[in-house]
Amino acid sequence: MARLLARDGYNVLAIDGDSNPNLALTLGIPADRMSHMPVLPSNLLRRTEAGAQLTHTLEEIKSSHSVTGPDGVELLVMAHPQHADTGCLCSMHATVRRIIEAASDEDRDVCILDTEASPEHLSRGTASYADVMLAVVEPYFKSLETGRRMAALANDLGLERVALVANKVRDEREMEAVQTFASNHDLEIAAMVPFDETFALAERAGTAPLDFNPESAAIAPINELAHTWGTNGRA
Ligand SMILES: Nc1ncnc2c1ncn2[C@@H]1O[C@H](COP(=O)(O)OP(=O)(O)OP(=O)(O)O)[C@@H](O)[C@H]1O
Ligand SMILES: [Mg+2]
Repeated sequence: MARLLARDGYNVLAIDGDSNPNLALTLGIPADRMSHMPVLPSNLLRRTEAGAQLTHTLEEIKSSHSVTGPDGVELLVMAHPQHADTGCLCSMHATVRRIIEAASDEDRDVCILDTEASPEHLSRGTASYADVMLAVVEPYFKSLETGRRMAALANDLGLERVALVANKVRDEREMEAVQTFASNHDLEIAAMVPFDETFALAERAGTAPLDFNPESAAIAPINELAHTWGTNGRA
């Protein structure tokens, strides 16, 4: 979504909010650059009477800590713990929350936070300033149930728009299973993305799926998703 929007002239800030970060690879940043990716430092917040605030502007943070990937997507990495037994990432969640607050929501600006599967980003309020949450699920009951819980937390956090994205859908039966689950739980489905054999081939070749085969089956629904939900209906 990030790259497809950037190709279309959007200024895209992608934040890898997974503490086991891999978004760079998905964006097509080569694996050898991954080992020296900058990570957000833990001293970007100061406490004021108005609450926690960033010590630098977002532009300053981007110029010192972002990496520009293919199609001009700017990437910030929330955390990448290097040592065991060194504590939690609470302050990094608080930092990312403020970065999203600071991110511009002008018409051609998009900020995408890729989270891990845990509900931390919702229970800690990291995603408080997001307009939209897309819960990527696979067509199995446990995954759908996880998505349902995420959607409930996102609603609780007050996010305006929440939906499921069904990924790796192999056939009609799986499609129907997702639709039935969604309608039973009053959930919206933002997109159905088919299982796409070329993703594994792309990974083996060390390239992003988008570079490996832009015509592959999953790309068109992801493109449509990006231009509808990814721009919060602005496009
Ligand atoms: N539509 C698809 N068809 C086939 N393979 C896919 C599809 N989407 C993702 N994959 C593959 O599934 C694996 C997991 O994908 P990805 O890293 O995007 O998922 P994730 O849920 O974010 O995982 P994690 O929780 O580790 O971050 C990757 O190897 C990816 O190439
Ligand atoms: Mg992931």
